[in-house]
This record gives sequence, C-alpha cells and structure tokens, in this order.
Amino acid sequence: MERISKVIANAGYCSRRKADELIEKGLVEVNGEIVTLGTKVKSSDIIKVNGNFINKKEEKEYYILYKPRGIVTTTKDEKNRKTVIDLIPTKNRIYPVGRLDYDTTGLLLLTNDGKLTNLLTHPRNEIDKKYIVKVEGIVPPPVLKKLEKGIIIEGKKTAKSKARVKKYDKKTNTSIVEITIHEGRNHQVKKMFNAIGYDVKKLKRETYCFLDLHGLKSGEYRSLSPKEVKKLYFVCQQNPTQK
Ligand code: URA
Repeated sequence: MERISKVIANAGYCSRRKADELIEKGLVEVNGEIVTLGTKVKSSDIIKVNGNFINKKEEKEYYILYKPRGIVTTTKDEKNRKTVIDLIPTKNRIYPVGRLDYDTTGLLLLTNDGKLTNLLTHPRNEIDKKYIVKVEGIVPPPVLKKLEKGIIIEGKKTAKSKARVKKYDKKTNTSIVEITIHEGRNHQVKKMFNAIGYDVKKLKRETYCFLDLHGLKSGEYRSLSPKEVKKLYFVCQQNPTQK
C-alpha cells in the first residue's frame, strides 16, 4: 500500500503537493469514491484525478473484445452479473473505454492505459463509432437527414452524424441502419432513434475509430498490436481526422 499522493506523483500527473491539494478539493477518486488526504492505495485500485484516469507503473495492455449480449460493461457489478472484464483473463486491472449497454453487442476496447482512455473519450477528439441498428419499420431519407443533422435528446442536440439504410426486410418490416457518431452520451443511439419514433430492436457497434471486429466471434478478444496502439495515439493527436 502506498500513499495516494505518491502514486499520483510517480505516475507523472503532478507533484505530491499538488496531488494533496487536489485531494483536499475532493477531485480524487479511488474505485469511484472520493478520498481524503493520507489514503493508501494498492496496485489494483483505479485512481481518477479531476476526471482523468491515472496510469500506474504497470505494463500496458490493450484489447478489443467482441462483446456478447447479456454482459455488463463495468469492472464490477453489484448484482454479481458477468462483466466484460470476466471475458479477458489478465492479472492487470483493465477497464472498458466507454460503455456498451447490457443488450448491445460489438466492439469494446479495454485497457489499463489511462492516458489513452482519456484521449479516446475526450469529446474534443471526436472518435468515430459505427453502429448497426435494427429498427421496426421503414426509415425514409428525411428521417436519416434528421439523424444526421442532430436530434434533441435530454434538451441537447446531438452532433452531426452519418446514417444510411443498409437493408429493409419486407417480411419482418424491419430496417437495418448504419449510423456513425462521435459523441458518447448515455444510450445515445437508442435515444436518438426513440426521439424520432423508432424502437431499437438490436444494436451492435461495428467499429471504433479505425478498429473493427474482423476475425473475432462474439465473446472473443484479441490484443492490439503496438502499431495499432501508436495509431490510436496518433489519431487523437490529429483530431478530428481519423483516417
Ligand atoms: N448507444 C446506445 O444506445 N447503446 C449503446 O450500448 C451504445 C450506444
């Protein structure tokens, strides 16, 4: 166990004195709880300072998981349900970058690299995520336009997106829509479709930035290559172009 201010300073975030100031201001969390001066932490604890994850000195790990339905995107579930972490055996404390709903499938990035997590999830970096959405009914061009221009959800307009119909199945009266957004608001895709009168039957995240699910089956994962990690950093530094 080590004093939290020392761990924050060792991670290169700021000086120990500054860390103590941040703790006093209530800006430091350990495993989601605000801590007080002198708190001691162990290597597996997740530290967040002013909203930023702290990188402790451990080997960095990066994974893409093809998240199945019925798994929670969290490090620990209070109802003891299976979590995305349970699908990746590692002794390091990895966590998901962003979130997919319990019933959403698809690409989820997991890592213990707080710096990259902060970059990827920062709205300024506008990281694209492509979703495949199954809805009931026809989605005509004016509706797609609305989705693309932005929809008011919870009093705030969504950013511009790209949307197209991939398929319409006459027999089941369902449409498959592809939508690419760069925001990460809670249940955003479902709320966008709900706001224009569509119920989302199925949701899958197909891509995250330049990463896709190629070669993975539901429940499978793989490590990112050093080249892919470098490219993710590069993309964040080049925002908003993610090519
Ligand atoms: N939008 C949603 O509504 N749900 C997800 O899981 C991801 C994006």
